[in-house]
Amino acid sequence: MALCCLISSGGSPGVTTTALGLALTWPGRVLLAECDPMGRGVLPGFMADRIREPTGPGLLGVAMAAEADPRAAVPLEEYVMPIADDGRVELLHGVRDPRHGVRLAPLWPRLAEVLVERDGDVLADLGRVGGTDTPEDLLKAAHLVVMVLGSTLPQVDAAAPRLDALKELVTDPAAIGLCVIREGSYRASEAERVLHTPVLAELPCSPVDAAVLSDGARPRLTFKSSLLVRSLDGLGRRIRTLMATGSPDDHATGSPGPVAPAAGGRR
Ligand SMILES: Nc1ncnc2c1ncn2[C@@H]1O[C@H](COP(=O)(O)OP(=O)(O)OP(=O)(O)O)[C@@H](O)[C@H]1O
Ligand SMILES: [Mg+2]
Repeated sequence: MALCCLISSGGSPGVTTTALGLALTWPGRVLLAECDPMGRGVLPGFMADRIREPTGPGLLGVAMAAEADPRAAVPLEEYVMPIADDGRVELLHGVRDPRHGVRLAPLWPRLAEVLVERDGDVLADLGRVGGTDTPEDLLKAAHLVVMVLGSTLPQVDAAAPRLDALKELVTDPAAIGLCVIREGSYRASEAERVLHTPVLAELPCSPVDAAVLSDGARPRLTFKSSLLVRSLDGLGRRIRTLMATGSPDDHATGSPGPVAPAAGGRR
């Protein structure tokens, strides 16, 4: 169905936490694919006390299988695992050792094809972009790219050149949006203006609730109705609308420009 890539410009703003929160609040079948060459986060974090069966080799297994048989279809489904009880939300866990990043490079174009054609939506966590190990094939194939950044000057400053490079890379530069985590003095509307990219959602800075997702911390009673979870739900709705129709629904931040149709050709 549709592929949404989540990226950061660096500084660990919370892209893995956001991607996981989106997956867990997604209404239909969804795969969270950890494609950050610098390493995985969900298995040793959120899943640490929830693992009941062997997890398998995840993304590295896919890479090795693809390497062994370059002409066969990439056997993605053999390497994904359920992370919600009803089996609706699945995880392709990422590499543990960043030295394995080199083995991933030949995989990206083939993985991009499989992810785009998968039955169900795919949220791919690419981590920090801009380096030589950035999975560019996934970015090119994505229906929407969401950059997660904190509302601080250093993060906005780091985002600018990376967004410029990204806009050159993707087919439809309008299919790029921001998710701003409110942690500094920079306002989302300012980030939008400076970066010439629409803000799809603002997330609160909620370290206690975020730790439930990033570290598997015990949730408070209010977790499910927390501002963080409600904001993630809102971001998810915005992403789905954009991926399905290319037209904006309500503007989470009252931001101006709609994100234009996400290049129907890439669906
Ligand atoms: N909305 C939020 N509010 C407060 N803290 C958050 C939020 N989102 C994430 N965090 C915290 O930020 C830290 C980093 O989160 P996470 O691992 O998701 O970042 P990342 O961008 O994926 O980093 P990396 O570059 O290491 O992959 C974690 O401690 C997490 O709990
Ligand atoms: Mg991460």
